[in-house]
Amino acid sequence: MYSLNLDTNAFLSDYWQKKPLLIKNAFPNFEELISPDELAGLACEEEVSSRVVVTKDNDWQICQGPFEDYDQFGSSHWQLLVQALNHWYPDSANFIDAFRFIPDWRFDDLMASFATPGGGVGAHIDNYDVFIIQGEGERHWTVGEKGQYAPKNNDPTTPLIEGFSPIIDVVLEKGDMLYIPPGYPHQGQTLTTAMSYSIGYRAPSQQELFSALADALIDTNTGLKRFTSTSEPTIANQVSVSHQQDMMALISELASDPESYQTMLGNMLSQNRFELDLCEPEQPYTADMLKEDIEQGAQLCRIGGLKLLQLENDSLSRVFVNGEAFVHPASITVDVTILANSCSFDPEKTEQLLQNVPTQDLVLTLLNRGYFYLG
Ligand code: SIN
Ligand code: CO
Repeated sequence: MYSLNLDTNAFLSDYWQKKPLLIKNAFPNFEELISPDELAGLACEEEVSSRVVVTKDNDWQICQGPFEDYDQFGSSHWQLLVQALNHWYPDSANFIDAFRFIPDWRFDDLMASFATPGGGVGAHIDNYDVFIIQGEGERHWTVGEKGQYAPKNNDPTTPLIEGFSPIIDVVLEKGDMLYIPPGYPHQGQTLTTAMSYSIGYRAPSQQELFSALADALIDTNTGLKRFTSTSEPTIANQVSVSHQQDMMALISELASDPESYQTMLGNMLSQNRFELDLCEPEQPYTADMLKEDIEQGAQLCRIGGLKLLQLENDSLSRVFVNGEAFVHPASITVDVTILANSCSFDPEKTEQLLQNVPTQDLVLTLLNRGYFYLG
């Protein structure tokens, strides 16, 4: 169990998406999520997204994983970063639970870092909210005021920026946490060999929303209404302001009709940026096999990183899972909410859920797709 020492309601109203916050001792007696050796081992796997950032005098070098060994990097000035640890390391699920006071759709991934003294990615600005939690070791963090900053070495292609004046300047120790909203410059420098973790979030951009809406309209062959007009401009080569506005109103019409956008939003927001570690059974489960395993004490678990989302006031009874809508009878909406709210179920809870045949069917589908597994 990881319990977060934070007044989450006050945090949501005063800091979330607004301003950075340092929370000393956010996780009292913080237990390391993973050992450096295990993390290094994960970064040797093809499916796992990892990189090593080597800190040079005035520059950084990035080596993409997988890695065979780390000898080439020496004993200082480098940092190993492993994305989506929660997909590959089920033990991290408890830790992520502590952050579910923020809706699942916003969550991107848990990134783990192993850093040697002098290692760090350099000053930069992220588009997303992030919580940085310190494990073993110490790292010196600075966070600056939101604003425009010059790119490092005047290089327009670099994600790094020149320096900033800190509004937070702190050495993070085990169990401490830093919250950084989008747009605030920050930099972590490693003082002693350190493990740290980033809980990262994301939110769709206009570009992503437009493109997802267009794809959904094409897939369903909808949105076919055309522009019509009751008056024409007197100048032949002119597109009148009212025609321009009426054309764009066709888009706002779609964007304000839940039946046009809900499926797109559910699909998009339930998808994951990182590969999922699907757990497809060798032989598909039948209802009898499932019941037997549950009777023998198996836990029903969701694979790491999988999102089960429901839309408030949805026009259909359904749950969105990994970019797909699963429609179900309205009578099992409560079961589906229970299923979507927890990441694992003890045998007693699972037995209760399986009493409704449509719920049992949904569980079987999710199990046979590899989205759930029996542990
Ligand atoms: C780090 O751990 O140094 C990278 C995390 C971040 O800056 O977002
Ligand atoms: Co960052």
